[in-house]
Amino acid sequence: MSENSERSSWSSSFGFILACVGSAVGLGNIWKFPYITYENGGGAFVIIYLLAIALVGYPIMIAEIAIGKKAKANAYLAMGKLSKDNIFWKLVGGVTIITSFLILTYYSVVAGWTVEYCFQSLLGNLSMLNNETVAPRFTEFLGNGLKQVGYHTLFMFITTLIVIKEIKGIEKVLKVIMPLFVGLVILIAGYSLYEFGGGKTFDFLFSFDMEKITPHSVLEAVGHAFFTLSVSAGIMVIYGSHLTKATDIFKTGLWITLLDTMIAIIACFMMYPIIFGTDIKIGESVSILFTTLIPQFNSVPGGTVILSLFYLLVALAALSSTISILEVTVSFVSEKFNIARKKATLLSSGVIWGIGVLCALGLGANETLTKVDLFTKFDYLVSNWTMPVAGFLTSIFVGWYAADKYLKEDFEGSHHKMLYPIWKFSLRFIAPILVGGVIIYRLKIFS
Ligand code: PHE
Repeated sequence: MSENSERSSWSSSFGFILACVGSAVGLGNIWKFPYITYENGGGAFVIIYLLAIALVGYPIMIAEIAIGKKAKANAYLAMGKLSKDNIFWKLVGGVTIITSFLILTYYSVVAGWTVEYCFQSLLGNLSMLNNETVAPRFTEFLGNGLKQVGYHTLFMFITTLIVIKEIKGIEKVLKVIMPLFVGLVILIAGYSLYEFGGGKTFDFLFSFDMEKITPHSVLEAVGHAFFTLSVSAGIMVIYGSHLTKATDIFKTGLWITLLDTMIAIIACFMMYPIIFGTDIKIGESVSILFTTLIPQFNSVPGGTVILSLFYLLVALAALSSTISILEVTVSFVSEKFNIARKKATLLSSGVIWGIGVLCALGLGANETLTKVDLFTKFDYLVSNWTMPVAGFLTSIFVGWYAADKYLKEDFEGSHHKMLYPIWKFSLRFIAPILVGGVIIYRLKIFS
């Protein structure tokens, strides 16, 4: 295992914040948040969501960063270090690493779609698609094994090239990607409001219709708070493990949370004007980004250019997430088995790529693999099970045990010292109760 003294660190807190925001911002912000807010009636749901972020997402994120910062290791070894090598807690850390591993196998496939659609849009090949032809074109693309595997390979390749350069290399790339991404989101949201009009969007987001809020909305908000902040996937632990002592975790965590939330809200201003301009319904599947939106963009001046920029934006959001997801497996493999970083990177991405190929061919290209549908199975498993369960256990572990024993000192010198008991209280009670609620709900115990 690499010695702490040799462990590289972020060049600044800003670099760390960028990397975490890069991980947090992704399809969850661009498609999923606008979708669940739409389904749950708008403004009132946004308030519930903000509460879920503040009461569950933020405290657990701080807990993960603090674990990494203290133990200076991947989630599996870090949980071991802070629990006197207790096998149960090590396994909890291990589950977060498996979560990342599984997410990358299919996330890279979806990320690949954005590259195809960006290219095709630039070539002008999407401009003739209409409401009738857009969905069959997408289905045909999903069934094209060569393209599915090709784009997945390309995306894994780019991710590997960045991750192999270690934390410093990751930071350098994200310093370019993230400002570009934020610029594009603001640009396209502005364009969307200008072309399609924002009246209905504002009405919808600022209507506080409490009647639309059900227990289901609350649980949905809590579940999404996890996914969107990339907690319970070993990421915050490993990124936190490269922090220097001086970093103020409460403050950096707050920045990550605020930026992720702001981007999710701006994404609503990007998507809603387009959707409210038609009778189309925002779909439950991520495929809406590759179907319904296209004819809408085609109907406005400069639509082809904007559509290409839109796919570039989604590709950048996905890349900044895939980098963080691969980093989790790579550092585990290199630290646990004492393998050189380069070798660990090639080995990890090779295996993930291989399983990803099975996901990619299971979308229509290969009959047997399509029946097995690893893509949907992995997604279901991580979003509904491994993430909430590991998040629940992490908050118990930190709130009831590790915080006072190991992590308190980190907050001692900080002028946010008075936040410590509040943070501990939410980890002890609020987060476990709410996340426990999500798990019980998923078990359908009450239905
Ligand atoms: N947070 C990412 C999003 O919002 C998804 C993600 C989850 C990335 C877990 C990494 C780990 O899309």
